[in-house]
Amino acid sequence: MAITLNNGFKMPMMGVGVATIMKNDEIKDIITNALKIGYRHFDCAAHYKNEAGIGEALAEALESGLVTREELFITSKVWTSDHGHVVEACKDSLKKLQLQYLDLYLVHFPIATKHTGVGNTSSELAKDGMLDIDTTISLETTWRAMEELVSIGLVRSIGISNYDIYLTRDCLAYSKVKPAVNQFETHPYFQRESLVRFCQKHQICVTAHTPLGGGVSSPQVYGSIYNILQDEVLQEIGNKYGRSPAQIALRWGIQRNVVVIPKTSKLNRLKENFEAFDFELKQEDMDLIKSIDKNYRTNLISTLAWGMDINA
Ligand SMILES: NC(=O)c1ccc[n+]([C@@H]2O[C@H](COP(=O)([O-])OP(=O)(O)OC[C@H]3O[C@@H](n4cnc5c(N)ncnc54)[C@H](OP(=O)(O)O)[C@@H]3O)[C@@H](O)[C@H]2O)c1
Repeated sequence: MAITLNNGFKMPMMGVGVATIMKNDEIKDIITNALKIGYRHFDCAAHYKNEAGIGEALAEALESGLVTREELFITSKVWTSDHGHVVEACKDSLKKLQLQYLDLYLVHFPIATKHTGVGNTSSELAKDGMLDIDTTISLETTWRAMEELVSIGLVRSIGISNYDIYLTRDCLAYSKVKPAVNQFETHPYFQRESLVRFCQKHQICVTAHTPLGGGVSSPQVYGSIYNILQDEVLQEIGNKYGRSPAQIALRWGIQRNVVVIPKTSKLNRLKENFEAFDFELKQEDMDLIKSIDKNYRTNLISTLAWGMDINA
């Protein structure tokens, strides 16, 4: 199941999120097993520091004929410290991923930070312990370089990530190549209906990162006060369909016409998540899920890491 982007390219409605899967063998296993299950879309980023392992797994899969390049949809993202070095950063990701082109390249966060060397995505903190923000590079400048990537054929589609309505609107105003995708956190506790509708109205495909609200690890790893998979409504709907709360959350996303990219390092959950394609939620259940929105961002990792809430 795929969605057609505003430039005609198709993007599978579910991808594998690969953040935090750092060990080379582990990431290679996840990619290979995901391909065997039927996944074709992988949500990568320079910042996840695992592109080399993903590249090895993809090269092996392409070599063995498990998949063809045309069937794959590979996303990567330029990190905040490379906003002034977009073309070099993209080439660095391509080299690690062993690919000639990316299907989608995103501006990971709408903020430029101190450059620390191409592909070196450690976010430096300033002396005050807060993120070292670079105020000299505008998002329009960054976007011009993203557009260049399309014109030189390194990237098929370009997009944005973690852009709110204000920034998305601004990007639409200055862009010659319109963003094909906006990837941001959305799930049943953080539905962001206005942002979703605004993007979709302007032919920008929405991809939900953290579509499970961080799942089981949400409180410990993501700093959230909730684990949305324990939500009573999601559990009740799950019981009705004979599905897990994770499958209900993912299916709800897909039925909003939102692409979902759950992360898991467990084979059984890779399968479970992919099975969200095998059933359909009735409108009454879609409406019920609408009612559990808490307008609550569960993914507080950037705030924890950077000593500041850049969304505030
Ligand atoms: N653009 C951005 O700024 C940004 C930010 C955050 C994330 N992302 C992307 O979005 C992807 C997904 O987001 P995320 O990793 O933050 O959160 P998520 O996918 O909402 O949740 C991941 C967590 O849920 C667990 N999980 C996965 N499937 C499950 C299931 N069926 N049942 C129960 N638990 C399950 C995983 O644990 P196990 O691994 O133990 O299964 C993991 O702890 C990332 O990997 C990344 O590609 C992008």
